[in-house]
Amino acid sequence: MFVILLLLSVLYVTVNALPFGDQLVPGVDNSNKWVVLCSGSNGWGNYGDQAIVYRAYHLFRSYGIPEDHIIVFHYDDIAYNSENPTPGVVINEIGGPNVYKGVPKDYTGEDVNPKTFLKVIQGDKELANQGKKVVKSGPNDHVFLYFGDHGSPNMVIFSNGVLHADELNNAFISMHKNNRFAKLSIYVDTCYSGSMFHKILPDNINVYATSSSNYTELSWFWNYDDKLHTYISSFFANNWLVNDEENDLDKETLQKQFEYFKEHSIVNYTQYHTTHPIHAQQFGDLSISKLTVSQFLGHKPKGQTNTVTKSEQNNDAVNKWDVSLDLLQRRIDETEDIDEKNGYLQKLENLYKGRQYVDKHMTEYVNSIQHLMPNIATNAILHTKQELNNRHC
Ligand SMILES: *[C@@H]1O[C@H](CO)[C@@H](O)[C@H](O)[C@H]1NC(C)=O
Ligand SMILES: *[C@@H]1O[C@H](CO)[C@@H](O)[C@H](O)[C@H]1NC(C)=O
Repeated sequence: MFVILLLLSVLYVTVNALPFGDQLVPGVDNSNKWVVLCSGSNGWGNYGDQAIVYRAYHLFRSYGIPEDHIIVFHYDDIAYNSENPTPGVVINEIGGPNVYKGVPKDYTGEDVNPKTFLKVIQGDKELANQGKKVVKSGPNDHVFLYFGDHGSPNMVIFSNGVLHADELNNAFISMHKNNRFAKLSIYVDTCYSGSMFHKILPDNINVYATSSSNYTELSWFWNYDDKLHTYISSFFANNWLVNDEENDLDKETLQKQFEYFKEHSIVNYTQYHTTHPIHAQQFGDLSISKLTVSQFLGHKPKGQTNTVTKSEQNNDAVNKWDVSLDLLQRRIDETEDIDEKNGYLQKLENLYKGRQYVDKHMTEYVNSIQHLMPNIATNAILHTKQELNNRHC
């Protein structure tokens, strides 16, 4: 009897110490966890990047991450975009709920930039003094970061500036030195995401990273919605959230989650009737992967069920680099209106012209410096993916 009373009182104190009691698994304290969800991109064609972050926000709130411990970066131009037939509504799954509702506007528009992102994860005092949310973590805390957008070798691209691999890894080194976390885990879902960590992230600073793809590989938008005329999700990040939704997070480790990514390593490039591999990678301190997902993202309430039929999602995918071409091609194929078709054809032609312009100048440039690399043919430089060896240059 005494033991039961003691347990009850501990439970009572813990639940009441937290402001979100009704959403929490009773007795679980998540105040040592910090989550930053960043969708770097903007524009209707990149819909999936923001939608996935909205879905993730609601999921992790329901797992008990306190509101002031989860920070969202989103350009916020999707819900009320002129292309949106259902203003104010953003979905991440076909038949799924409006995930836009209730998402805080922590950092939107021009504030979605690399400098602010680095400040926020490092708990910048100035931002905090302005009343903005920052990661106020200490030596016992777990920090989880997600970044989704476009990327290139050794950089990820925000709608407003680029973040270089060195800058991100240096921020982690500095955070480690300043005791800003016990463990930090980051998932990056961009083209070439592996290049953000490959041969850069140290394995002795308590940081563990997972990338959607390897250092020479593209990342993919996924789940085309023919009413919205865009891809509403991302292949890798959807697998991440599905894995969270379908498993006991007190048992599912980051390692098991990684193995799930490895099992889901083929995407369907439907428009072109081909499939492509995508190789998720892991970096840094791999011992962290033995920790459970719940140690970073909170505890799923018992009996929480999926409201979305996963089989109703389509498996159409397009690599993030070619999404604008793909969406225009689809519009051209879908419309019966001849003026509309011509309008889209014109836009597509302009896109190709832009790419040809860059290709032409790149070829000329490579030719002009060919004498510096006598052992490599121009063709090989232009058409193979070389590893960057001198990142400072
Ligand atoms: C990276 O991905 C490319 C394309 O999918 C593949 O050909 C290559 O073998 C992969 N490399 C590594 C190291 O995984
Ligand atoms: C790709 O498409 C094929 C044929 O429609 C299907 O069997 C397979 O499950 C799809 N793969 C993925 C990853 O969606």
